[in-house]
Amino acid sequence: MNKYLLAASILSANFSYLGKEINDVIIAGIDIIHFDIMDNHYVPNLTIGPIVLKSLRDYGIKNLIDVHLMVKPVDNLIISCAKAGADYITFHPECSDHIDRSISLIKKYGCKAGLAFNPSTSLHYLDYIMDKLDLILIMSVNPGFGGQKFIPNIFNKIIQARKIINQNKKNILLSIDGGININNINKVARSGADILVLGSTIFKNSLSYKKIIKQIKIELK
Ligand code: DX5
Ligand code: ZN
Repeated sequence: MNKYLLAASILSANFSYLGKEINDVIIAGIDIIHFDIMDNHYVPNLTIGPIVLKSLRDYGIKNLIDVHLMVKPVDNLIISCAKAGADYITFHPECSDHIDRSISLIKKYGCKAGLAFNPSTSLHYLDYIMDKLDLILIMSVNPGFGGQKFIPNIFNKIIQARKIINQNKKNILLSIDGGININNINKVARSGADILVLGSTIFKNSLSYKKIIKQIKIELK
């Protein structure tokens, strides 16, 4: 079994045939679909929402979908994304007035809960909610756009987050999002990641999805 899970951030996919793009990367070896929702308010970009998520489920996409909510406020979209077929729902603490309540809402609607940390957001938000979390998402770029450069001091943050998770009895997945490429993926993984989120490295590449994912898996061996 693979030690690491690969997630495709569909932000860099071709939205004119998104269902096919997702099927193609799954066939090529992707484990999880990372579904970025942006609101042009919390982040300076606008993407897709629960209607598109539901249409992908209706189209037959069965893989795990982690919805990465970059929207403020967040609670209404938690409910609509859960109803549309999300498995994990991950939000930023800055987007909720009551973090514990938003996590409970995710659980109430049958999904697993993730908390996302911007490059400058402290991990102290974890202090009182670790027992309720299923996933921690560390952003290695500022949220809003694909194709940005990995911020190097995030390696230390990943190591720190891994330590915190290991001290906790619960199994929490550590996902890293932003700027991961063929040159740094091994170091990101060794720093403590479980899930590696890849956008432009997969979708904006001259190689076929099969070839690039094969190369990535070799890097992770
Ligand atoms: C950025 C998004 C990321 C992004 C990753 O706000 O959350 O998921 O799409 O794209 P790459 O891998 O190109 O940095
Ligand atoms: Zn993301």
